[in-house]
Amino acid sequence: MDLCIIGSGYVGLVSGACFAEVGHHVVCVDNDQRKVDMLQAGQIPIYEPGLEELVHRNVAARRLRFTNSIEDGVDHSQIVFIAVPTPPQVDGSVDLTYIERVAREIAGVLKPGQYRVVVDKSTVPVKTGEKVADTIKRYNKGAEFDVVSNPEFLREGCAVPDLMSPDRIVIGSASDRATDLMKRVYEPFQAPILVTDVNSAELIKHAANSFLSLKISYINAVAAICEASGADVEMVADGIGMDKRIGRNFLNAGLGYGGSCFPKDVKAFIAISKQLGTPFKLLEEVERINGSMLTRFIEKVREKLWVLKDKNIAVWGMTFKPDTDDVRNSVAIDLINHLAGAGAHVTAYDPKGAEKAVEWKLIDPAKVKICATPLEACKDAECLILATEWKEFANQDFDAVKAAMHTPLIFDGRNLFSPETMRDFGFTYYAVGRAGAK
Ligand code: UDX
Repeated sequence: MDLCIIGSGYVGLVSGACFAEVGHHVVCVDNDQRKVDMLQAGQIPIYEPGLEELVHRNVAARRLRFTNSIEDGVDHSQIVFIAVPTPPQVDGSVDLTYIERVAREIAGVLKPGQYRVVVDKSTVPVKTGEKVADTIKRYNKGAEFDVVSNPEFLREGCAVPDLMSPDRIVIGSASDRATDLMKRVYEPFQAPILVTDVNSAELIKHAANSFLSLKISYINAVAAICEASGADVEMVADGIGMDKRIGRNFLNAGLGYGGSCFPKDVKAFIAISKQLGTPFKLLEEVERINGSMLTRFIEKVREKLWVLKDKNIAVWGMTFKPDTDDVRNSVAIDLINHLAGAGAHVTAYDPKGAEKAVEWKLIDPAKVKICATPLEACKDAECLILATEWKEFANQDFDAVKAAMHTPLIFDGRNLFSPETMRDFGFTYYAVGRAGAK
C-alpha cells in the first residue's frame, strides 16, 4: 500500500520504517528541513536499536523516502498517518496545535475525488478525532475522507521489535471502508486487531499508559513499606507478579517513571477526566508517589554523606531508561541537577545520552563533569549512584571501580545489582525497597 506519515519523530520514523519493511511504500513528511536533509543523507536523528539498518535497507529498496511536502505525501498515499508531537501545557492538558495545523494542511492539499484515510497515531485526548474531522471539513468542504484513531504502543529502546510484533493493533473507526484499508496495512504484522469506535481507541492509549504508571507507583509505594519494615521489594514483586492476573512486568521499583509518555499521559488523563466532569483522583496519587521517589532517594544519599556540598558523586546513567539516547523528562537528569545544585561535584557517564543532555542544555557541563567511561566517573568518588539500568553497568570490573573510588559506597536507584555481590566486592550498598536500604 502507499502510506504517508506526517512527523518523523520516534513514532513517525519507526512506524514508517517498519511499514516499509513489510512491503508498503512509505513517504515520511517532516517540516524540519534539517531533519529531512539528514534522513535523505542516510543519517538517523535518533538512536533506536535496529532502526538505522531498517531505514537504510528500505530506502535502498525504494520503499521509503523523505520529503518536506505534505502535498507530495498526501497525493501519493491512500492513508495519511499523523504522528506529530502533542506536548503538555502548563495545566497538564495536551497542546493540540500541531495536530490542528496538520489537519488544516491536509485539508488544503486534498483534491476532489481523492479519498483518503486520515489516521491519528499521536497520543491525543478522547474526542480529538471528531475535532480533526470537523477541521478538515471546515477547510475543504468537498473533501472525501475518514478519520481513524490508531494509537501506537511502542516503547523507546525497543521500538522496532515492539512495532514489528505488537501485542495488539487498535483501530478506532466509524467507516467500514477505512477499517478495511487499515486492516490491509496491518495484515503483514500478524497481530490481533481490535476494532473500536474512535473515542474508545483514543481512550485506550491514555488508559493503558496511566495503568502502567499506576503499576510502577504501586510497587514504589510498596518499596517504601519494605524499607520501613525490612522486607525486600524484589521478592514481593516476584511474589505478586507470579499471579497471572497481576504479572511481573512494570513492577520494578526505583526512582520512578520518566520519559516523554508516562508523565505527560498521566497528566493529560487527569486533565481530560476533570474537563469531562469525572475527576480521576487515583492518578493524582500515582503522580505524587512518583515524584516522592527521587526526593526519598536524595534524602537517603544526603543522610549517608551528611552534607552534599563539595562531595564527589559519580552518577551512572542520564537517559530516562536504558537502550535509548532520550534524556527528556529523565529522573536521572533531575537527580544530577539536584546534586549539582546542592554543591556536589558530579561526574556523570551515560553510554548514549550525554551528548544530547548537553546539546539540549539539560545538563550544564560547567557544573557537571561528563566522563568518557564509567570508571573515569568513579575517580575519587565518595559514592556512586546508579540512575539508569543500562546492562553494561552490571558488567563492570568492580574491583577497579572500588579501587578508583574514595569510599566504596553505592546507591542503586534501579535495583540493578545484587546486594550480595556488591557486599562481596566490599561495597556498602543501598537500593530501593531492599533490606539494608533504610
Ligand atoms: C511507554 C509505554 O510503555 C509505551 O507503550 C508507550 O507507547 C509510550 O510510553 P516508554 O516511555 O518508551 O514507553 O518506556 P517504558 O519502558 O514504558 O518506561 C517508562 C518509564 O517507566 C521509564 O522511566 C522506566 O524507567 C520506568 N519504569 C518502567 C519503571 O520505573 N519501572 C518499571 O517496572 C517499568
